[in-house]
This record gives sequence, C-alpha cells and structure tokens, in this order.
Amino acid sequence: MRQVKTLGLLGTGVIGGGWAARALHFGIDVIAADVKPEMEEWIRGSVASAEPALASLTNAPLPPKGKLTFTTDLNEMAAKADFIQENIPEQLPLKQRILAQVSQHAPADVIIASSTSGLMPSDLQKDMRFPERLIVGHPFNPVYLLPLCELVAGAKTDPKSIEAAAEFYTYIGMHALRVRREVPGHLTDRLQEALWREILHMVNEGVATTRELDESIIYGPGLRWAGMGTNQIYHLAGGEPGMRHMLHQFGPCLKWPWTKLKAPELTDELIDRMVEGTAEQAAGRSIRELEQLRDGYLVAVQQALKQFNIGAGATLNALESRLYNAAAANAPKAAAAADGPRRLYETAIRPEWIDYHGHLTDFRYQHVFGDAVDVLFREIGVTDAYRAAGHAPYTMEAQVRYLAEVRQTDSVYVTAQVLDSDAKRFWLYLRMHRASDDKLVAVGEHLYVHVDAKAGKSAPMPADMQGKLAALRDAHAKLPRPADAGRGIGFGKR
Ligand SMILES: NC(=O)c1ccc[n+]([C@@H]2O[C@H](COP(=O)([O-])OP(=O)(O)OC[C@H]3O[C@@H](n4cnc5c(N)ncnc54)[C@H](O)[C@@H]3O)[C@@H](O)[C@H]2O)c1
Repeated sequence: MRQVKTLGLLGTGVIGGGWAARALHFGIDVIAADVKPEMEEWIRGSVASAEPALASLTNAPLPPKGKLTFTTDLNEMAAKADFIQENIPEQLPLKQRILAQVSQHAPADVIIASSTSGLMPSDLQKDMRFPERLIVGHPFNPVYLLPLCELVAGAKTDPKSIEAAAEFYTYIGMHALRVRREVPGHLTDRLQEALWREILHMVNEGVATTRELDESIIYGPGLRWAGMGTNQIYHLAGGEPGMRHMLHQFGPCLKWPWTKLKAPELTDELIDRMVEGTAEQAAGRSIRELEQLRDGYLVAVQQALKQFNIGAGATLNALESRLYNAAAANAPKAAAAADGPRRLYETAIRPEWIDYHGHLTDFRYQHVFGDAVDVLFREIGVTDAYRAAGHAPYTMEAQVRYLAEVRQTDSVYVTAQVLDSDAKRFWLYLRMHRASDDKLVAVGEHLYVHVDAKAGKSAPMPADMQGKLAALRDAHAKLPRPADAGRGIGFGKR
C-alpha cells in the first residue's frame, strides 16, 4: 500500500470529525468530504474541541500537525486521498451506492475503509471497483481518544488490505483488532448491545433507574474492564484454579437464565424513562460539558494504564516509542560538526505547559530538553531494547538558565553541543531557540553517567556508543566554547 500522507473522509459527522482530529494530530493531512457544505464549519469546530484532550494524551514529540481541507465533491476527495475512511449514515443501500461511486475515482492501491457499526463488508463491497481494497475499520466514539479499531474483511477483501490498514491505524495510535470473520455487529457492538438489552429490560420493568444501572458498572466492573476485559477478570474470579473453577461454580446459573436475549419493545414509556433518567444524571450539564469531562478522564485512564503496559496503556507506550524513534530519525543528519551544534528536536508549545503569566512554565523547559536529549540517545544507540536489557545513561546533574519568555503560540527547537565525553560520562550543553526568529530562550546543561542497572553501578558504554559521542565531542570542540558552561547558580558580578 502507498504511504498515507492524506486521509480522505467520506461523511464528516460525529465519527468523521473524530477521525479528522486524530489524523491531523499525528501529522496526516485530511481532505474531508460531505454532501452538506455546512459540515465544514462543524468539522473544524469538532477538531478544535478535541484538541485539548489530544494535546494532553502524550508528551512524546509530535510531527507538525496535518492540514484540513473540505470539499462537497466526493470524487475530488477520492482522487486525492491515500486512504479513505467512510463515515456516512448507517444505511446499507446508501453506503453501497456511495462506496461504488467513490471507488471509481480512487486509484486501485487506495484502501477504502468503512466505519460501519455492524454492516457486513461483503455487502458493502458488492458494487465497488477493486472491491479487494474494501475493509471495515470500526472505531469508537471519541475516535480521537479511544484506540480500538475493529478490522473486518469481506469475501472479496485481499488480506493485504487488512494488514495495510492495520499499519496505518497503528501509526495514528490505534489498536487494530483483527476480527476473524464477518458477523453482524462485529465483536464489540454485539457485547455492548447484549448489555444494553438488559438495561432496557430492567428500566422497562422498573427494576432500576438509568443512574443505578450506570453505578452498577462504574464503581465495579467498569474499573476492571479497562485493564483486563471480562474473560481475564473471570479467570481471576475462579481463584487459584482459574477459569475452570469459575465455570464450574457459576456456569449452572447460565441455564436459569438471569438475562433475557430479546430486547423489549421500545414503547413511548420506556423511551421516556431512558431519556428522563439520563437527563437527571446530566444534572443540567450540556453534551459539550459532559464530553470534556469524559475526554479528561479517558486521557487520565490511559496514562494510568501506561504504567502497567496493559490495554490502551500498552498502545500508548507503543505510540510514544514510535514518535520518539521518528523524532530521532528525522533529526537533520548533517554531522553539524563544522556548521554548529547538533539540532535535535522542534516542538510547538502546548496549552497545558503554560503558567499563570501565559509563559512556558519552568519545569517544562527540562521536559523539552529531556525530549531533545532522548533524540540524541536513540541516535547513539540508547533504544527501548537497550534500556530493557539493563543499560542506560542516568542524569547526574542538570540545570537550566531562563533567558527569554516563551509563549503558547511559539515553537522552539533544541540543539546540543557535546562539551566532553569519556568511557562512562558525557556532558551536554543544550540551547533552546524560538523557531520563529531563532532567539535563544534558554540554555541547559546535562551531565550523564552510563549505568548497568542490574549491577546497580556505573559502567563503560559500548565502544560504538563511545565512538559516536567522541565523534560529536571532537567536532564540537571546534565550535566556540559557551562562556557560561559549567557555571553554578549565583548572583554573578555585582
Ligand atoms: N456515532 C457513533 O458512536 C459511531 C461509532 C462507531 C461507528 N459509527 C458509524 O459511523 C458512521 C457515521 O456515524 P455518525 O455517528 O458519524 O453519523 P452522523 O450522522 O453524525 O454523520 C454522518 C455524516 O454523513 C453525511 N452524509 C450523508 N450522506 C452522505 C453522502 N452521500 N456523502 C457524503 N456524506 C454524507 C452527513 O451529512 C453527516 O455529516 C455510521 O456508519 C455509524 O454506524 C458511529
């Protein structure tokens, strides 16, 4: 498959807007197409409202944001996109017709994915040109924060299309769950619907209110599900013998059964109870307010799971590793020897890094310097695998001098000058510049010692790593030595 630089969106409602926000954030251009011209304003608003939560998801270095364009000409979008994601209403004849139309204009190697919640890919690809590139790529709302994407092939789908789509979705921070065969509702919506049917029954029969049913999830199973899902959790519920004992103990009640398979009739009374119950829970808060609350905790949950490297937290770790590697790979390769210090990394200043004066807050300077040094680390061989094997440079001393204000609208870049290195240690002089006018806004100095974490003591770096640092050190020795290098904190001259 071709490299995806431009994502084409077909339909720009709730789900199309979510795809746009996610793709743009990770540096993919988006060409959004909708039959209604007024959706341009809508999609721009929805991208803007996703921004604060997305910005706080990860501190890893991000590529420059993608650019958003809008058109009402579906065929133009199809001709320009490298990957098309369809998000029009859930009606089979409509989707079939539009997918067939768009497939006439999209080159053969452009994957066309449908966000359908439950339609079968074999039905969707029926009238398409090159139907082997049609897949279902089913996301979850909000698409910009939930990593899950179910991938489903139809009878005519080429398995390579599934793999290519998985690669793209992973690139934009998602977890590609390959569904073994097409079934109505895929996997997740079948599970969600089973739960929802029981909710409707219990509200209908006056057993519980919507609030009580939500409480039955959020104080208990909901907390467990995020990390382990239902089956692993039940395995634990069986004690030492695990799932076998669990089935033995609780299996018989499946026959009673507690639950009902068929959904109740959606009478006006039931609809009113559901609507009134959820309105009471909202307690006057608008959908936008509730979305912000939801987005905030979704970010926090993923960051918590990251520490355990499970579920969505493992996906976030993998994404961050990719972003750091990409930043290292994209750092200008010029040896920088004669030209100047090594330019490592550029970042936009994020809204949450700003203090009450509207300036970059002090500890974020170390954060930006740290991310920049991470780029250098990867270049000299300090990778995730190297760390996992038990070796890494540890920071012995670090200090920052703040020279000029940095504001939220700024971007900054960081350069490194290797002042000294030996078998175990290296000393970096870091400069932070404002990107718009190259003004020097801060300098930092970091001293590192290479450590064997298993032995718990310092250890020489591998020869290759020593060599790379020595080459930079020798080249940088030709640059003017910074007058304030090695200076301690103090009042200076009086
Ligand atoms: N809302 C969810 O929670 C959710 C979650 C996962 C998947 N999905 C699926 O995503 C798809 C879209 O759902 P949504 O909630 O975003 O719907 P939506 O109603 O918010 O958006 C649909 C958009 O499609 C546009 N549209 C209609 N006909 C079109 C056409 N012929 N060409 C181009 N655009 C057209 C509409 O103008 C609208 O902007 C559905 O298949 C749905 O099952 C929805």
